[in-house]
Amino acid sequence: MLNVGIIGCGSIARQRHAAEYRHNERTNIAAVFDLSRPRAEAMAKDFGGKVYDTAEELIADPSIDAVSVCVANAFHAPITIDALNHGKHVLCEKPMAITLKDCEDMLAAAKKSGKRLLIDHNQRLTPAHRKAKELLASGELGRVISFAATFGHKGPEMWSVDKSSNTWFFKKNAAAFGSMADLGIHKIDLMRYLIGDDVKSVFSRLATLDKKFPDGTPIEVDDNSVEILSFKNGALGTVTTSWTHYGEECNTSSLYCEKGILKLYHDPRYALQVVYADGTKAHYELDRMQTNDDAQQTSSGVIDQFVEAVLDGKKTVLDAEDIVNSMRVVFACLESAESNRIVEL
Ligand SMILES: NC(=O)c1ccc[n+]([C@@H]2O[C@H](COP(=O)([O-])OP(=O)(O)OC[C@H]3O[C@@H](n4cnc5c(N)ncnc54)[C@H](O)[C@@H]3O)[C@@H](O)[C@H]2O)c1
Repeated sequence: MLNVGIIGCGSIARQRHAAEYRHNERTNIAAVFDLSRPRAEAMAKDFGGKVYDTAEELIADPSIDAVSVCVANAFHAPITIDALNHGKHVLCEKPMAITLKDCEDMLAAAKKSGKRLLIDHNQRLTPAHRKAKELLASGELGRVISFAATFGHKGPEMWSVDKSSNTWFFKKNAAAFGSMADLGIHKIDLMRYLIGDDVKSVFSRLATLDKKFPDGTPIEVDDNSVEILSFKNGALGTVTTSWTHYGEECNTSSLYCEKGILKLYHDPRYALQVVYADGTKAHYELDRMQTNDDAQQTSSGVIDQFVEAVLDGKKTVLDAEDIVNSMRVVFACLESAESNRIVEL
């Protein structure tokens, strides 16, 4: 039995981490902490666990085996490193950290402690993305030539537990990044995972087009972005992100291969569609992409992977050693947008 502590008791902690720990019979939610004590108390009431006064106190408790880090981006690295240094396994939310050095320090702390560090890249685990990986690895569609991935929704202020346009997601000191890293990291990482190769160069454009703080001033980070990614193997494509898709969430990818097209989450019924070069089609009725509007999300598979990593010593697709290479792409995109240049990795 794995005794877990949850640090940060906002939306992702409630809707995914706590909900999935509760459904996993090999875990016990033993501890919770949030800067907002009432929020931590409400979580403990609904999901169990003792409420701690500080993250440090929770992390120092020898009865806790593993920690979920579900706080604002800027605090991922310090809390994760402290937890690893105290011998805890860590499942940290994305984006992994706000600087490349922080990401590398997290990896170093995991190596030194011998504990597992996973990052919550749930998109790698959705049934359609798993099937796409299988089809691409089989060689049935040949090489990926180009791709287009989009992740857009109406904005994190509608999702965050605070439900306010004064959310930390809009502030540089807590979020560091806007939509490009918040949503784009999912698609950048997914394209790396599906294509099975690394990014060679990027060109990125970020914009703050619509989101405002309650006083009417523009938010401090981007609310829309477009990234052009070139892979080492020649694949070329775009990642588009948006926090201003009012009305309907878009979470789609298309991969144009030598022998056909893979279409992911374009159709509400068929999560994966393959259009072969001769025009014939295959439809896979696998799952529906979870949206921020889903009330309780209990089946991402992330917690199962974390538990199997820790208790069974399994290697997983969420191990931080590979995810850090997706973060390198994010930092290159930031540099590209700032310098208005193509950045080589
Ligand atoms: N994997 C995914 O698909 C996914 C989806 C949504 C959010 N996230 C990530 O999860 C993290 C949390 O996002 P959220 O949507 O739950 O935000 P949220 O605003 O709903 O909740 C964040 C919570 O963290 C608490 N907090 C902030 N800093 C803290 C600190 N230093 N110590 C303790 N508590 C602290 C806040 O009080 C709040 O309760 C973010 O990094 C976000 O990018 C990931």
